Order: sequence, then C-alpha cells, then structure tokens
Amino acid sequence: MNLESIPRGELAAILRRMPKAELHIHIEGSLEPELIFRMAQRNGIELAYPSVEALRAAYAFTDLQSFLDIYYAGAGVLRTEEDFFEMAWSYLNRAKADNVIHCEIFFDPQTHTARGVPFATVINGLHRAVERAREELGLSASLILCFLRHLSEADAFATLEQALPFRDKFIGVGLDSGERGNPPEKFAAVFGRCRELGLRLVAHAGEEGPARYIRDALDLLKAERIDHGVRCLEDPHLVARLAAERIALTVCPLSNVKLAVFPELGHHNIGRLLAAGVLATINSDDPAYFGGYLNENFTATFDALPELGAREAYLLARNSFEASFVPDETKAVWIAGLDAFFADCSAGG
Ligand code: ADE
Ligand code: ZN
Repeated sequence: MNLESIPRGELAAILRRMPKAELHIHIEGSLEPELIFRMAQRNGIELAYPSVEALRAAYAFTDLQSFLDIYYAGAGVLRTEEDFFEMAWSYLNRAKADNVIHCEIFFDPQTHTARGVPFATVINGLHRAVERAREELGLSASLILCFLRHLSEADAFATLEQALPFRDKFIGVGLDSGERGNPPEKFAAVFGRCRELGLRLVAHAGEEGPARYIRDALDLLKAERIDHGVRCLEDPHLVARLAAERIALTVCPLSNVKLAVFPELGHHNIGRLLAAGVLATINSDDPAYFGGYLNENFTATFDALPELGAREAYLLARNSFEASFVPDETKAVWIAGLDAFFADCSAGG
C-alpha cells in the first residue's frame, strides 16, 4: 500500500468514501432546525424563534456555554419515544451516507428527565433506532450515557439508578456540558461506581478546560478515552503519556472552531497530535449546530491543513476503529476492510 502515490486531488473523495467510525456525537446535537420545528408543532410547544431560518441564524456561538444554552433549549421539543427514535434514526441514516460503519452515540438523559420525560422514554426510543440501523442499514451502533457536569454528583448517581434497569441498552458513561469550574474530581465517586458495574468510561476534558483536567480524567475517573482533549499540547508530559498508553482523543474540528477553541481550522492542532503519535480521531460532536456531519469535518479539516494527506486519512480511519469499544476481532475485520480500501486507492482504483 503506497499511500504517497495517491494524488492530493483524490483525497476529498477518499475521505468521503473510506469506512470509518464516529465516537463523539451527541444525539441531541443532531437535531436539525427543521426537526425541532416539526416536533414542536406536534407536541404543542411554542418556540422562541419564529422560523427555521431565525433559529439557524441564532447559531452564532462565542464559547461552549453560549452553545449549550441553545442546545438545551432545542432538546426541549423531545417528548415522546417516537421523538427520540426519529432523532436517532435521522442521524444514523446520515452517518450511513458518510460511510460510517460504527458509531458510539452520546445522550444526555438529565436534560430530559429534569423536564419530566421518563428515562425509559429516552432510552427505548434511541435503542429502537440503534437496533433498526443494525438490521436495515448494516450499521453498528451503541449508546453512551453522559452525566451533565454542571449538575451535582448526587444527580448523576440518581440518573445511574434510573438507568440500571436498562443496563443492556448502553455500553458506558461519559461526562459533558460546561467544563470550566466543573473538574473531573467532582464525579470521581460516580465514575468509580460505574467502573465497578463494568461500564466503559469516557469524559470530555481539555476542550475549554486546562490540560490538568485531561490528566485528572485519566487518573481520578479512569477514563479510557478523552473527548476533545486538544489542550493536551500545553503539557508535553501528558502528550507523551497519551501516545505511550494509546489513549484515544475524539477530536471535533468544526466544533472547535464554532466554539472558538481555535480561531480557524487552519490553526487546528490535529496534525500536530497525529505527528506526536497520539491516537486522535475526527468526529462531529453536534453536527446540526456546527455546520457539518462527519465527512464535512474530514474534508474541511484536510482542506485547511496542508500537512494532512493520504497517510493521515488512513491513520484517522484506523484510529477510529482502534479506539472503539468493540471486541478486538471486530476491530481486526474492520481494519482489514480499511486496508483493502486503501490498497485499491493506491493502485489507482
Ligand atoms: N454537550 C454537547 N456538546 C458538547 C461539547 N462540545 N462539550 C461539552 N458538552 C457538550
Ligand atoms: Zn462533545
């Protein structure tokens, strides 16, 4: 496989066509304005915006919190099991179109249970979509329950209690929402309990928060994967550790620009992370809000960063499989398929 022989002009098509996994997608962040309006109408909810265009025009964020305010308001239209199913089913079809073959999907139950929506309504709707994707789209998917870090640890424990009767419908837990002022240690006990229960563990860290939060997510929460993590480059020891321990970062380039983590894509550090040997992946985070699904994240990032070529395309797709929470045998099958795809590309196919 001679990746250097692949012309740069063919890269965009390769990025779109290559098989890949998505490991950092908040399902509530896939809710398109059109769907928000349709659900609001059928559920008798009045929105603060008069039209789809007016809502979309409000998507001008200055930081993470300015986004979260609109994101939580948008999620307020979700009421019935059918709403959760339809949201997830729309995303899964969109992922299939991007040649995603596996996704690990975050959901924020506290956003819904706090409004009186039963936990069962949320997870049963999402899980039905995941099952249907497996059967009808041949797409592998699983769910990861995220605790909202701006709420208390007691609230997270209560959510875990509500979730345990549905233990077979999700594979792990994560930690999201406003990072500043809500450090990993706030959730050490509930993550410890989840670990005892055999759940897989991930956490957002080093998006807006400092590199220290990444270290603490690893040491105090025992996170197996770090969501975002881009601020690790501020600590060379941490970068060396991430590379040596093969700890994956689920990086979301379009999100990082929309939330002003980087001023523009041309300043993004994904190329430097890969060059440092970090197991970085590309993901969409909240695609309905940040201007693109997974393939747009790939193509826009490669357009903006000349240091990214066919070798990095292969590496990012391979990393997405390696970092996923599927059995090793499944990873091996998917990586063999990826190798065959790139061998074909480099042979001029
Ligand atoms: N919830 C949805 N998207 C998020 C992000 N990028 N960071 C933290 N919490 C989130
Ligand atoms: Zn996220």
